[in-house]
Amino acid sequence: MNAPAKISSKDKTISPAERLWAMAAEPMAAVDTIILDRMQSPVGLIPNLAQHLVGAGGKRLRPLLTVSCAQLCGDDGQNAHKLAAAVEFIHSATLLHDDVVDESALRRGKKPANLIWGNSASILVGDFLFARAFNLMVETGNMDALGILSNASSVIAEGEVQQLAALRDILMTEEAYMQVIRAKTAALFAAATEVAPVIAGRPEAERVALRDYGLKLGLAFQLVDDALDYGGFESALGKSVGDDFREGKVTLPVIRAYHSANDTDKAFWKRVIVDHDQRDLDFEKAVSLIRKAGALDSTFDMAREFAADARDALSIFPDNEWRNTLQDLADYVVERIS
Ligand code: IPE
Ligand code: IPE
Ligand code: MG
Ligand code: MG
Repeated sequence: MNAPAKISSKDKTISPAERLWAMAAEPMAAVDTIILDRMQSPVGLIPNLAQHLVGAGGKRLRPLLTVSCAQLCGDDGQNAHKLAAAVEFIHSATLLHDDVVDESALRRGKKPANLIWGNSASILVGDFLFARAFNLMVETGNMDALGILSNASSVIAEGEVQQLAALRDILMTEEAYMQVIRAKTAALFAAATEVAPVIAGRPEAERVALRDYGLKLGLAFQLVDDALDYGGFESALGKSVGDDFREGKVTLPVIRAYHSANDTDKAFWKRVIVDHDQRDLDFEKAVSLIRKAGALDSTFDMAREFAADARDALSIFPDNEWRNTLQDLADYVVERIS
């Protein structure tokens, strides 16, 4: 395959994500093969439902991170590919469960699996994918990698439960919100990047740096995701905008808009979030209050700060194509529209 050699980190005509994809095309093809192979089962409903989600693609950002960080650490072995596939299985499992919990109408531009096969099937196939992720980790024989990813799996579940418990709580603090996104999203990004130096047998300093990179990248990613739920476009995102609002999920744009609101606007937020009494044009009103408070801009600003931290975390690595493109990916995560 010639493509990876021709792509340069200096090429600014394509996005860092596309550049990383091109550079990692070969290992990512190997990861795809593992994913397709390991979602098979004689129980037909499992591959049918899994294929609906997996076949719809998604950005494959987390396995791309594992594979690219492994390349940065000089590792292109089968075990790194297996861990990348395990990471995507964990992510896919959480998406199947998440769409049940969030009652979403759209996932990866398609009807969520639970609206086709039902909630029970989605939850059970999600469990299957979780279990397959653990099979793959065990096959690598690396207890440290197994520890990192199993810990991330329990932390994700904690984050989802913590978020559920805070539903419709307009007084949720920024600290509590940050704790939720750190657990539900950033923990898997951090694990996806940390397992790379671990499987490559690299020194502790690289493990710490890559974990920090993934964590900051994941925080930036979820902050942007939460901003896009009020300021993005369904066609680009492949999922509905306004889901958080409809659910009464309190995210940073809402927390910030609420705190700078006058009494009339505070009453609006209480009605739509706490009482969950939502009427026509309430979402549009929420968007305009959030914009008036500058809360979308300040959410993006915070994401930009985490992206800059992610970039800095990689400074211990030598200046090469992998490091530079992974650093540029941090900026892409903030500027993305999908
Ligand atoms: C969706 O993640 C879940 C969040 C953490 C917001 P992605 O936006 O990476 O989903 P896919 O895999 O590309 O569909
Ligand atoms: C993302 O949840 C985190 C997990 C799936 C664990 P969200 O509910 O915020 O993500 P989307 O918007 O449905 O992709
Ligand atoms: Mg959710
Ligand atoms: Mg959701």
